[in-house]
Amino acid sequence: CGIVGFVGQRQAADVLVEGLSKLEYRGYDSAGVAVIEDGEIEIRKCKGRLANLSSKLKDEPVHGTMGIGHTRWATHGEPSDVNSHPHSNTSETISVVHNGIIENYLKLREKLEAKGYKFFSQTDTEVIPNLIDYYYKGDLLEAVKKATTKMEGSYAIGVISKNEPGKLVAVRKDSPLIVGLGKDEFFIASDIPAVLNYTRDVYLLEDKEFVVMTKDGVTLYDEDGEMVNKDVYHVTWDAHAAEKGGYEDFMIKEIHEQPKAIKDTMTSRLVAGQDIVLDKIHLTKEQLDNVDKIYIIGCGTAYHAGLVGKNIIEKLARIPVEVDIASEFRYRDPLITDRTLIIVISQSGETADTLAVLRDGKKKGARVVAITNVVGSSVSREADDVFYTWAGPEIAVASTKAYVTQLVALYILTLYLADLKGTLSKEEIEKIKTEMLTLPEKAETLLNNLETMQKFASKSYMEKDIFFLGRGLDYAVSLEGSLKLKEISYIHAEAYAGGELKHGPIALIEPGTVVIATLTQETLLDKMVSNIREVVTRGAKVLGIAFEGSTEIEKTCDYAIYIPRTMELLAPILSVIPHQLISYYVAKQKGCDVDKPRNLAKSVTVE
Ligand code: G6P
Repeated sequence: CGIVGFVGQRQAADVLVEGLSKLEYRGYDSAGVAVIEDGEIEIRKCKGRLANLSSKLKDEPVHGTMGIGHTRWATHGEPSDVNSHPHSNTSETISVVHNGIIENYLKLREKLEAKGYKFFSQTDTEVIPNLIDYYYKGDLLEAVKKATTKMEGSYAIGVISKNEPGKLVAVRKDSPLIVGLGKDEFFIASDIPAVLNYTRDVYLLEDKEFVVMTKDGVTLYDEDGEMVNKDVYHVTWDAHAAEKGGYEDFMIKEIHEQPKAIKDTMTSRLVAGQDIVLDKIHLTKEQLDNVDKIYIIGCGTAYHAGLVGKNIIEKLARIPVEVDIASEFRYRDPLITDRTLIIVISQSGETADTLAVLRDGKKKGARVVAITNVVGSSVSREADDVFYTWAGPEIAVASTKAYVTQLVALYILTLYLADLKGTLSKEEIEKIKTEMLTLPEKAETLLNNLETMQKFASKSYMEKDIFFLGRGLDYAVSLEGSLKLKEISYIHAEAYAGGELKHGPIALIEPGTVVIATLTQETLLDKMVSNIREVVTRGAKVLGIAFEGSTEIEKTCDYAIYIPRTMELLAPILSVIPHQLISYYVAKQKGCDVDKPRNLAKSVTVE
């Protein structure tokens, strides 16, 4: 989501809508503004793109020189007018825009309801204005401060109150927020592009720094109420670059967002020492015991995530799994009964073939679980159970952060199934969970070591063909790596299972052929090393991707990329990152438009 806020002399609604238009890449399923007009809070909000809000504002204008605005990407509660921000407290004295996820919102909501507060939306956000109201004793800043001590999760919020009509209070924790410093006018925003039309001077806020903004100026406070002096940051990027957070393209930005996306997707589902909570999955033990087969279905990258899913579900939950491409599955008269569980994976939740499988499966009595990134998408509405990946909007056509979060979703789902089935002990589940919780940090480490990938790209971007090799989980990741490369660099790329080399692909190896080999699986390591030798003997140039400390790849490979150690089982979540980066750097070297590769679309809603 994206938030903005304004205090100054101009008409706030115009400034807010203008700012939001620069944040639409952060979410676009609904939008809204709250403006103080003659001492009252006036709200206009609606489902759909910002254009809908603009036309609503034409019909029902609001006048006032301060306010807050929001463009939404749903996490809790589907896109609708009532779930759009801003949200107000029950007595409508306080309005809030929020970006992030309040993890303990259900608990807070119950407590507030017991105190007589009423809720109208399904959002987590609505607890915030009510909580602030609960603590309000005549000082908005104090009330916001108290409320944040009860809020768990991530947030950037902008708050206004009709009791203090000239004042805007804001704060962040684990969600971005900046303050724009104009001449006699001030702004808050999730991201710099929203304010660039008005100013290039900003404060980059840290967690738990509180902003109090009036038309006379901005004051910052820390948690203890001490004033904070901050350096003004002068933005030198143009608006275009700013939209990408200073990155050159959305794809590289999204690759770098993966640690956060992994973390968000685990948030409130994986908590150390607690059972896994999946609030939109209602499978009972009896229902699961009745399942004799799982199909995982998707297209493109989502299908590749499914291949990892098969591997881990069979290993940990001991249920037979078949993975298929939606367009193949739907026409091959598959065996579907009321004992079938179908897991459909779709970032957009709108892919025509995937949706057709879901509908057909339900008709034949199967239970359908959807893994999707878009709340309220067709797939999410029609499936029996839903697991939302919280990757945030993905703009680049080639999927990166959505894939990684699909993997995270599949691991969590697998643990959940294994727990229900009793195929893993609580201790075993806890061990995997504990390791999963370290993955955001490990992914971050990986993203700080880019040299080998850049060097490899600068040497290999003129290749005609590049081959990928792996076994087991590494094979699944290799398939995704080769898809990324062909999508954005237009180099012919194929992935093969190591053991299949001798059955054909090795005939393609000639002096200079480039091979990318992934070797994270200990039991398959020797076999992969032999495979690498086989191609090296025939003149291949090999890039090896392995765990830190697995130095044998240096003996056989021309380039070695190391990923931080984790459980072998979890390797795909980390090992895919170098694959994505290699594709990205190769494509950039070639001068390709990585965000919009030729002939491809982000969402394929026709057959
Ligand atoms: C298109 C996109 C891919 C995506 C696939 C499936 O081909 O370009 O990035 O993996 O569709 O999309 P879905 O939204 O169903 O995950």
